[in-house]
Amino acid sequence: MTPRNILVVLSLALSLAIGFALSRKPGGRGAEGRGPGMARPRLGLSLDTLKEERWQRDRDRFVQRATELGADVLVQSANSDDTRQVQDIEALISRGVDALVIVPHNGEAMAKAVAAARQAGIPVISYDRLITGADVDVYLSFDNVRVGELQAEYLVGKLGGRGRIIRIYGSPTDNNARLFKKGQDKVLAPLIQSGAIRVVHEDWAQDWKPENAKKIVNAALTAQGPDVQGILASNDGTAGGAIQAITEEGLAGKVLVTGQDAELAACQRIMRGVQTMTIYKPLHQLADRAAEVAVALARRQVVVARDTVNNGFKEVPSVLENVIAVDKDNMMETVVKDGFHPAAQLK
Ligand code: GAL
Repeated sequence: MTPRNILVVLSLALSLAIGFALSRKPGGRGAEGRGPGMARPRLGLSLDTLKEERWQRDRDRFVQRATELGADVLVQSANSDDTRQVQDIEALISRGVDALVIVPHNGEAMAKAVAAARQAGIPVISYDRLITGADVDVYLSFDNVRVGELQAEYLVGKLGGRGRIIRIYGSPTDNNARLFKKGQDKVLAPLIQSGAIRVVHEDWAQDWKPENAKKIVNAALTAQGPDVQGILASNDGTAGGAIQAITEEGLAGKVLVTGQDAELAACQRIMRGVQTMTIYKPLHQLADRAAEVAVALARRQVVVARDTVNNGFKEVPSVLENVIAVDKDNMMETVVKDGFHPAAQLK
């Protein structure tokens, strides 16, 4: 069964009954503004950052789909600052949004913002990254453990099952970084146990910054010398930083480097042979679904999802989209075929 029909928005008749019941809740634009009959739902989109290419895509696609559905979207980006993100969400609440979509910089720190939204009777979608310890309504993301598995499987496969590697994890504030690591660990554990794979250096790249990833690889090469066969980088941004470091040592193209997000620069590096692979995540599927669910929740329609993810507070109704490993051999039939990047830019 594809993710598309895992999420069911209850029929209008039933939702009308339930929606009406729900709209009695106080707060926001209040009872009179919300409900199935509301003219134009007002959605709030709170982003951690717009620094990475993918978040700009998520924003644009979300706004496009929400507009198609007759909604207005207020967008805020917190520049990776937790205090700022809580303020952004409080501002969106006071501007009367009917539903909130949040990409948390720090999943734990956003729990109090979710509490404020709850207080105001505003439903919350946790987008791509899980908000933990909070009463969120829906979690929409990709299979992030699978991302880590595919990255490690690919690297180990290309290494012939043995070698010395560096591991670059994502931002320690990001729950996804822990899920990617979990997937990688599942694949690597027996090989590390047997000694076939040696992790010569590992660290977390604060805020996913490429410059932090570069520092990690600089430190690794200084301490361990150039005898490294692979870098398990958790996304394309950190892969880019790692590649800067190995380029300085004349190792570019000689060390395998993983990634994630199929950013344009990363896909170009893959076609040039200095990055080895990335993980393509069809963002349009996630953004479209988030817009559809946000509008449904704003209209007080009940959303039912087959899957759940425990966020430490409750079993959150969830949908986790599929992901695809991409290298130069399948770039055309994945990233290009989907129109994610034009072939001309990958020559
Ligand atoms: C993760 C996200 C990745 C990557 C990273 C850096 O949470 O799932 O796609 O972009 O953040 O922004």
